[in-house]
Amino acid sequence: MVVPYKHEPFTDFTLEENRKAFEEALALVKAELGKEYPLIIGGEKIMTEDKIVSENPADKSEVIGYVSKADQELAEKAMQAADKAFQAWKKWDPAARANILFRAAAMIRARKHEFSAYLVYEAGKPWREADADTAEAIDFLEYYARQMLRLKDGVEIHSREIEHNSFTYIPLGIGITISPWNFAFAIMAGTTIAPVVAGNTVLLKPASTTPVVAYKFMEVLLDAGLPAGVVNYVPGSGAVVGDYLVDHPKTRFINFTGSKEVGLRIFERAAKVHERQIWLKRVVAEMGGKDTIVVDNDADLELAADAITQSAFGFSGQKCSACSRAVIHEDVYDEVLEKVVARTKKLTVGPTYRDNANFMGPVNDQAAFDKVLDYIEIGKQEGRLMTGGDGDSSKGYFIQPTIFADVDPKARLMQEEIFGPVVAFSKAKDFDHAIAIANNTEYGLTGAVISNNREHLEQAREEFHVGNLYFNRGCTAAIVGYQPFGGFNMSGTDSKAGGPDYLLHFLQAKTVSDMF
Ligand code: SER
Repeated sequence: MVVPYKHEPFTDFTLEENRKAFEEALALVKAELGKEYPLIIGGEKIMTEDKIVSENPADKSEVIGYVSKADQELAEKAMQAADKAFQAWKKWDPAARANILFRAAAMIRARKHEFSAYLVYEAGKPWREADADTAEAIDFLEYYARQMLRLKDGVEIHSREIEHNSFTYIPLGIGITISPWNFAFAIMAGTTIAPVVAGNTVLLKPASTTPVVAYKFMEVLLDAGLPAGVVNYVPGSGAVVGDYLVDHPKTRFINFTGSKEVGLRIFERAAKVHERQIWLKRVVAEMGGKDTIVVDNDADLELAADAITQSAFGFSGQKCSACSRAVIHEDVYDEVLEKVVARTKKLTVGPTYRDNANFMGPVNDQAAFDKVLDYIEIGKQEGRLMTGGDGDSSKGYFIQPTIFADVDPKARLMQEEIFGPVVAFSKAKDFDHAIAIANNTEYGLTGAVISNNREHLEQAREEFHVGNLYFNRGCTAAIVGYQPFGGFNMSGTDSKAGGPDYLLHFLQAKTVSDMF
């Protein structure tokens, strides 16, 4: 019997012993930096000449690893390996597949800080964000394994006296997982392992800025007993390897998390039926957000200020769930703005790989740094700069937490995803107006309402059109199995990662009717 699911607890870094353990993990990972990593195709480790150089975003001169890069030929080899592995893997007892996930979760739990330390070095995460990312990766393994146990015998349907009808789930085939850098462990692991436990085989193309932590995960999967070829590790360029695999006639589904631009490109390409292709590809695409926290006039304003500050600037705003819009009732607008500005001015920005002192680390890379600074310039035209507004990329990609006030709800700063530490404030004349502003984007991922007015909260439950809506808390930090995660409209396919329906995206139902 499997014990009931419970999410992985977070580490308390106020305790000296936990800080020490984390420092030891950072030292261990530091000693590993700069190594070369092969592709893993059908269990075979293949070192390529051409490499992705993964850098520390807090110190560009430090190389995390030189990671082999697949080309089309190697991608084709991986496709063949996944095809071959599928023939056996699809027949495995689902409980035995789930067991591999349980084993992998236990192995990661035993080396938890080591994985988090990789996230600190490779993704620039602050300790508590890295710890949460690792915890979420463990949660995905634990949760999806249990979901497979729930689904393995199918679902009860009706039969008449003269027949027996059954309804069961079978896997789809070969899938491509294209994962993001912002949850370089959790989302990469979750979007790989969910199709795998469902009996599919996968080609994993991790984000090019965070391929090393994905390699470390591959090692765990193989050590946990995953057969060769079930997951194939093929980092590479989106335009070369990504497109090739998305277009491939043997690709049965694509599981993508990332930007709207790339998501739309994948969605369109996957719609085209290629020669020798005998199915319609399924696409799961989780894309961007432009997420709003609404503050009512009857609200705990301290709570509101904490929620906005944390949700806007945790991991430098680089979450699709991050609060980038604060819509405040005019009665309390000045007060909430002042409180958020005061809190933000106290936030420190700097490297996180030496100690746990800084609240925010760097942004992902030069492209992210340039994009966020461009939006800050736009913000200077569209609003009133209250704090921040600067960046420094001399050593790493550091940007100050930035607040703009009095921004028009239709302004670019209120409409376009920035994916950085920038939040825009807009004033609402009443609660209806606040909800109308909250809904006026093409996205629909997360949102929060801070209010003591039950009627307003119930109104928001109906009218605030987002996949993840939170009352009286921030709008980030969904937990697997507790807050299934995914958004509406241009935020994606609302696949609800960490939810009870997630595995069904990678399964097809078969009805058998047997006459007596
Ligand atoms: N699941 C994350 C959150 O809720 C975002 O990907 O913050």
